Amino acid sequence: METIRIGIIGHGFMGHEHESMLTRLDGYKVVGISDTDPKQLEDVKEGIKRYANNEEMFNDPEVDVVIIAANNNQHHDLVIQAAKAGKDIICEKPVAMNLAELDDMVKVVDECGVNFTVHHQRRYDKDFRTMKNVFDSETLGDVYSIKSSLYGFNGNMHDWHVYIAEGGGMLFDWGVHLLDQMLWMMPGAKIKSVFADVRNVINFEVDDYFKILMKFDNGIMAEVELGTYFLTDKMDNKWFERHWIMGGNKGTAYLDGFDPQGAIVRTNGLLQNVGGQRTMTAAGPTRSFGPPPEGKLVTEPLPLADTTHEDYFENYRKAFDGQEEFLVKIPETRRVLRLMEAARESARTGKSIDFE
Ligand SMILES: NC(=O)c1ccc[n+]([C@@H]2O[C@H](COP(=O)([O-])OP(=O)(O)OC[C@H]3O[C@@H](n4cnc5c(N)ncnc54)[C@H](O)[C@@H]3O)[C@@H](O)[C@H]2O)c1
Repeated sequence: METIRIGIIGHGFMGHEHESMLTRLDGYKVVGISDTDPKQLEDVKEGIKRYANNEEMFNDPEVDVVIIAANNNQHHDLVIQAAKAGKDIICEKPVAMNLAELDDMVKVVDECGVNFTVHHQRRYDKDFRTMKNVFDSETLGDVYSIKSSLYGFNGNMHDWHVYIAEGGGMLFDWGVHLLDQMLWMMPGAKIKSVFADVRNVINFEVDDYFKILMKFDNGIMAEVELGTYFLTDKMDNKWFERHWIMGGNKGTAYLDGFDPQGAIVRTNGLLQNVGGQRTMTAAGPTRSFGPPPEGKLVTEPLPLADTTHEDYFENYRKAFDGQEEFLVKIPETRRVLRLMEAARESARTGKSIDFE
């Protein structure tokens, strides 16, 4: 197995994550790190070079692959410079600020003949992979609805993520992961139309809330919702929440949390002909929303996935050695960018946008 020699550009939050993961993974060596802010290099681990600038890294023959972990507005130029230097590239998400930037990058990457992929490690999130297992198994019958949501309860948005010019906003931050997951869940399906609300609830420049509805040609209505400003003071230190719900005509799968808890629930017979039973609830008497008749609901465990973010680099290593394909392909990331642009347009016009 060939050791992949890595250079990291940007030693902030994500640069540190890459440094720490890749120094403990077999098959990788972090050769050096660069950052335009010298202070950010002060805690680079022993044995790793600190470059005076990015050019020094691009010119270092010991670096095979450059990981670009700088602010979103830097990705375009850095990818082009890395490609021209003949380096393979892993770029952080979102790959670019818009389609025009990405097309520019791809042109140069193709001319230079280097490998180019994007760090969408959340394709290995346990919650997502568990729901994808459920979907792929077809155990829910005809799926009609999938909802993926993430809520933050402390109102935080931080650093450059609050500025448009730097590529801030939640659509570019978490939205790109949540949409990438939804599209990769059902890769063959086309999105017929997109309807979305994208808002700045409290931020001056950037979005901190969105709800995106996608009507797929396989009949599924998918929804992705994220908000950073659903405040609560009763979370017991749990300041964000992840949820999935998937409905099919043979059952429902629900899942809560990144360390997934949930179940598949089915009925063992049609409930439409049960005698209307009056049940008293806090909402008043009801027949439709009372408890189900005894023995009619059957619960099954979820087929829990055992994936980790390290699997992303396991795939990268094998793909680098030619044993498999890079999991994240640039046309997939382009489709997600297009989808985000359609969501913004729908939010701006209040209209549904025809997509594919
Ligand atoms: N995949 C994920 O889960 C994930 C998570 C967080 C952030 N990210 C992505 O990682 C990237 C960095 O985000 P962050 O939160 O770590 O930001 P950050 O502000 O913590 O770190 C960015 C670093 O890049 C440096 N930098 C900026 N421009 C540079 C340039 N031209 N050359 C060299 N260094 C430069 C900054 O000085 C800073 O140290 C973003 O694209 C972000 O979307 C991905």
